[in-house]
Amino acid sequence: MRLKNSVVLVTGASSGIGEATALAFARKGAQLALCARRLPRLQEVAERCREAGSPRVTTKRVDIRDRTQARGFVAAALRDFDRVDVLVNNAGLGASGRLLDLPEEKARELVETNILGVVWTTQAALPALIAARAGVIINVSSIAGVRAAPYSALYSATKYAVTGLSHALRGELSGTGVKVCAVYPAVTATEFFSVSGGRPLGPVYPARWVANLIVRTARFPRRDAMVLPFRLAHLAEPILGGLIDQAIGEARRRSEPDVTR
Ligand SMILES: NC(=O)c1ccc[n+]([C@@H]2O[C@H](COP(=O)([O-])OP(=O)(O)OC[C@H]3O[C@@H](n4cnc5c(N)ncnc54)[C@H](OP(=O)(O)O)[C@@H]3O)[C@@H](O)[C@H]2O)c1
Repeated sequence: MRLKNSVVLVTGASSGIGEATALAFARKGAQLALCARRLPRLQEVAERCREAGSPRVTTKRVDIRDRTQARGFVAAALRDFDRVDVLVNNAGLGASGRLLDLPEEKARELVETNILGVVWTTQAALPALIAARAGVIINVSSIAGVRAAPYSALYSATKYAVTGLSHALRGELSGTGVKVCAVYPAVTATEFFSVSGGRPLGPVYPARWVANLIVRTARFPRRDAMVLPFRLAHLAEPILGGLIDQAIGEARRRSEPDVTR
């Protein structure tokens, strides 16, 4: 897909991977519709996107958990731009600690943001995408969506859900011209850990790298976009999965005794 003047929607664009993704698309000359809850932060990002080369950027305060607000974001973008070329479902958060201790409110927030938020925006965008017989939906899953992380059990489950939703929807849409892709960031330097608790385990990548991967995926859609070392590690799962569960559990118990108790 040609990105210049394309219409790209990004959820959770007020910080981290979403912010970097908006900027990366802006540098390619894409038009942008951005949403998140922190409107002042979002407006700062929008201004930087304009400076970076985006011909048009709109912002909307949206709590993605709310179906009406999520659908309103897509409807406003369709009104403003007349079409959608790329939908990046990025908004999300995590929770660290023992599943046993996870409060009900946090559990609901994770499911409603990481899974249902993706469902609401995708349902809202699909009629226009299918009618156009074109477009790309990019869902931000996580390495935890293919290699579950002990002490982030529900977060892992929500990201497996994003992976499953992406693959199933890809099959539903085959032949329509609409592509569905899942992107799997590894540990990335964003506000994620200050919002969600826990500490990064292993190498930490800049958000810009994930953003560039998302832009490449929009240009050349593929089912799964993952950095190479993790693609290789993923191949070992059927044989070594059980051992890896224990090894990560032990590593987190050692490095984060406060989180894992
Ligand atoms: N950082 C990592 O190591 C990592 C690794 C793998 C996958 N990921 C995934 O990458 C995505 C982005 O996370 P990040 O690392 O960039 O973290 P981040 O800096 O905390 O950004 C999260 C974004 O999601 C938005 N958001 C959260 N809840 C929302 C809600 N209810 N409604 C609307 N927007 C909401 C936040 O905006 P507001 O607070 O302004 O609403 C913010 O813009 C998430 O899906 C995360 O699971 C991150």
